[in-house]
Amino acid sequence: MVIIFILIVIIAVIFTSLAICAAIHQDEDDIFDPSSFTVIQNFRGSFQMPNQVFTDELATNSSNKSQTLATELGTKLSDLFKTSSALGRYFINAEIRAFRNGSVIADYKLTFHMPEEEKDQLRNFTLSREMVYNVFRQFLYDQESESDPMFIDPASLKMVLGN
Ligand SMILES: *[C@@H]1O[C@H](CO)[C@@H](O)[C@H](O)[C@H]1NC(C)=O
Ligand SMILES: *[C@@H]1O[C@H](CO)[C@@H](O)[C@H](O)[C@H]1NC(C)=O
Ligand SMILES: *[C@@H]1O[C@H](CO)[C@@H](O)[C@H](O)[C@H]1NC(C)=O
Ligand SMILES: *[C@@H]1O[C@H](CO)[C@@H](O)[C@H](O)[C@H]1NC(C)=O
Repeated sequence: MVIIFILIVIIAVIFTSLAICAAIHQDEDDIFDPSSFTVIQNFRGSFQMPNQVFTDELATNSSNKSQTLATELGTKLSDLFKTSSALGRYFINAEIRAFRNGSVIADYKLTFHMPEEEKDQLRNFTLSREMVYNVFRQFLYDQESESDPMFIDPASLKMVLGN
């Protein structure tokens, strides 16, 4: 009887410690303070949407058509970067800046922020041009339908570090 009781206590202690360890680990990983993210990193580039037809209306950034497509694309890109496990916490905004002929080329700008004390490391790895480019391109290869009007050609993706 006493032995069984001791065994139960030991097992309970093991499970409690495991639970506490898991909770602490999760906290370290999940808790971050975005107000300390004071350094901005931007990327600019373009991609091609082969299923869109270029019109004068799209070329005019104040037109309904251009604003609707820009908003839709901005949401698509924001969802992609917000849900990225590597980049999500640093992501601020995705903006479509213009549409050009060919068949339609969209110019975009991505904005990320990060803490001052980690900026060198983040710029070299997580928020490097290579990492952000690869996350973006992988998402484009994962698009379901090549005939969708919103389809973006993965091979057309261009990106540079910039303001
Ligand atoms: C877009 O480019 C194509 C091919 O160069 C041209 O035929 C078409 O007129 C252009 N469209 C506009 C709206 O400029
Ligand atoms: C629209 O385009 C013009 C000329 O390219 C630019 O100066 C202006 O800032 C743009 N407006 C918006 C709201 O993007
Ligand atoms: C722009 O789109 C909205 C909603 O689709 C519509 O109500 C409005 O009349 C359109 N404006 C123009 C100038 O076409
Ligand atoms: C980042 O890269 C630069 C240039 O390659 C290097 O000098 C620096 O030590 C690196 N910093 C970190 C934190 O990796």
